Amino acid sequence: MVSDMTQSHPPRITKAVIPAAGLGTRFLPATKATPKEMLPVVDKPAIQYVVEEAVSAGLHDVLMITGRNKRPLEDHFDRNYELEEALSKKGDSARLAKVQESSDLATMHYVRQGDPRGLGHAILCSAPHVGREPFAVLLGDDLIDPRDPLLARMVEVQEQQGGSVIALMEVDPEQIHLYGCAAVEDTSEGDVVRITGLVEKPEPADAPSNFAVIGRYVLDPHIFEILRKTEPGRGGEIQLTDAIQQLAVDEKIGGPVHGVVFQGRRYDTGDRSDYLRAIVRLACEREDLGPDFRTWLKGYVTEEM
Ligand code: UTP
Repeated sequence: MVSDMTQSHPPRITKAVIPAAGLGTRFLPATKATPKEMLPVVDKPAIQYVVEEAVSAGLHDVLMITGRNKRPLEDHFDRNYELEEALSKKGDSARLAKVQESSDLATMHYVRQGDPRGLGHAILCSAPHVGREPFAVLLGDDLIDPRDPLLARMVEVQEQQGGSVIALMEVDPEQIHLYGCAAVEDTSEGDVVRITGLVEKPEPADAPSNFAVIGRYVLDPHIFEILRKTEPGRGGEIQLTDAIQQLAVDEKIGGPVHGVVFQGRRYDTGDRSDYLRAIVRLACEREDLGPDFRTWLKGYVTEEM
């Protein structure tokens, strides 16, 4: 079947899907009753940065894939009348604006995954909402620094090339076993490569490159047909990487797959060390907290490390 994306006017991307139904076991016990996506990065839950990123790339329709214990995610993007009234009565307009910010951000939709059977399965849960248009996926625990726009560039590449676009980052070859890894060919654009194959978490000796797949995707809707047929892979989970590999090897289904090579700042907030790095870095750069925090941090590093 030939993809709709080969038409001269592909539909514009308007929808973002944010999978946030994982168990977050690396962060236990904090994630026993609280979703990891709600852990604060300075004073905002990690997930709010992700929704803000979707909106700043022009995607105002956001579908979050949630599961059990994930109720706080829905509450965070809803109104909180009690708190709003209390702050209004006090005349605290600055804090009131902070409370209202997340509920005014985007048009939010939710679907429950039921059993967390892997990222591929989570994406499949978005099929009825997404329909037949290309759509973006932003992993709820992957934080891209707001000053290094990645998704907007991916949307632009998808509009030019059709098909699907994934995000890549060069990593140390010893680290590649932690990621999906892409086999690539250069294109005429410096930050864009063509994907010829993907492997999930390869041993360094088997890795086709040191390009790691990170948590942003723009996908052709044919991915759903492939996911429906994808058997559980590594870890017994339905892997998104396996389905994108199918797209990459057979362009007749859903068009080509390109990769945008990202060189900005990115944090995996589901990993404890990276989470701490995200907080320190973003706190240092904040206008309100940064000056005091940097002074303390310099003293701490020189005196105690
Ligand atoms: P992770 O690989 O980080 O898994 O998922 P996890 O279960 O959330 O965390 P750990 O490894 O146990 O600590 C990557 C992304 O895919 C989502 C997660 O919420 C996260 O955003 N995901 C994963 C789902 O939505 N459903 C799944 O079945 C698996």
